[in-house]
Amino acid sequence: MKFFLDTADLNEIEEAASWGALAGVTTNPSLYAKIGGKLDDFHAHIGRICEIVGPDCPVSAESVAMTRDEIVKDGIELAAIAPNVVVKVPTMVEGLAATRALADKGIPVNMTLCFSVPQALLAARAGARYISPFIGRFDDIADDGLQQVENIVRAIGNYDFTANTVNGEQVEIIAASIRSANHVTQAALMGADIATVPFGVLKKMVQHPLTDRGLDAFMKDWEKVLNA
Ligand code: G3P
Repeated sequence: MKFFLDTADLNEIEEAASWGALAGVTTNPSLYAKIGGKLDDFHAHIGRICEIVGPDCPVSAESVAMTRDEIVKDGIELAAIAPNVVVKVPTMVEGLAATRALADKGIPVNMTLCFSVPQALLAARAGARYISPFIGRFDDIADDGLQQVENIVRAIGNYDFTANTVNGEQVEIIAASIRSANHVTQAALMGADIATVPFGVLKKMVQHPLTDRGLDAFMKDWEKVLNA
């Protein structure tokens, strides 16, 4: 499993990138609004994220257009920011059509707001490079988000979509809307390719009480060695 950071916060991205395990970043309009982002600065902000994480880390930037032509126009402009930009497109009819057009131009797409196996299969056939099923939002409505991810991973794995995607790359499933380290554990056991996690969850993923207790004991014993 690869780890993406789900944020538009440059400080969080810088910090997480410095840990050496970050493989990408995903943003969305809500995350950009959360940091007080301004329309005029949006492209420059995505450019700054791309610079921080480097060319090997895909950075998803979302189109807010609602028609296929506008999404494609948006996508072309977003892709021009940096070679590692991935255009995030909502799973809807206009989004599918735009994804096909962008993929045909060699621009990778992350299909977002995906909540079902049929949506995921259509996204893959339309040429999406990444598909983002949301876990937490299912849990928000008292449904089982992890079960949906498991179904989507299994259904996508049943077929070869390499002919559909940009440069024949295999479509990857991004477990998104992750709210806990346990979501990551379960998504990994189900075979999701990527987990995109908020910074708070990433920090919790590093921690374990037995690690803290063990480290404390090692430090105390090392004191004895130093004083021997
Ligand atoms: O990547 C999508 C994700 O940001 C949505 O998360 O917590 O708003 O459901 P959430």
